[in-house]
Amino acid sequence: MRTVVPRAVVWVTTVGEEVPRCPTLAPFSAVVPICNSPPLVVLAVQRRADGTRKKTAANILATREFVLNIIDDNLIEAAVEAADPNVSVEQRFTRAGVHPAKSAIVKPPRVSECEVSLECRLNRYEEVGREPGRADIFIGEILCVWLNENNKERQSPDSQAGTFSGVGALSLEWYLTPSGLRRVPQPYAELDQTPPRVS
Ligand SMILES: Cc1cc2nc3c(=O)[nH]c(=O)nc-3n(C[C@H](O)[C@H](O)[C@H](O)COP(=O)(O)O)c2cc1C
Repeated sequence: MRTVVPRAVVWVTTVGEEVPRCPTLAPFSAVVPICNSPPLVVLAVQRRADGTRKKTAANILATREFVLNIIDDNLIEAAVEAADPNVSVEQRFTRAGVHPAKSAIVKPPRVSECEVSLECRLNRYEEVGREPGRADIFIGEILCVWLNENNKERQSPDSQAGTFSGVGALSLEWYLTPSGLRRVPQPYAELDQTPPRVS
């Protein structure tokens, strides 16, 4: 699986059903645009090594909404910081040093520091794989795009991203950035997912 690279790195922001709604974020790289009309993107969330569902997946199943916030090279360290499963979901924004900003259509907030954010509503859901290495597959319809410097401009889903260049996740801990390769340690990675296993 780790040879299918580079993959975009996004922070997925979600909220839970509980009131008051607590926004959370976590980085994901299994994200691919799959259709133009309507604009659809697929997000795959693996189970943790102990077989439990990640909070991001549980929140999307509960609320049917999420925001994809595309990471650039200034935010890689912060993105990895926010993946630590030992950090409670309430602490994720603080730990990453970023701020929530109100979305236009969906309840989960955007990440204010990201140049590009895509507001999504769940279009289709599928559970794939065998225990304990299952994955939740979400196909989201992009309802609204936030683009440009400091993520200030709301645009329609068919907007073009101009000169924005994100980063690519390579094999574990390595990232492709516009200025070259960068290594960002991820000490808790073993807790995170079941290793790939062929049948
Ligand atoms: C760069 C990066 C990319 C990641 N991509 C994925 C991914 O595609 N799928 C996945 O299940 N976890 C991925 N993770 C791990 C999740 O971010 C991590 O499990 C996080 O704790 C999930 O948080 P949650 O329980 O709040 O959803 C990635 C981590 C990093 C640092």
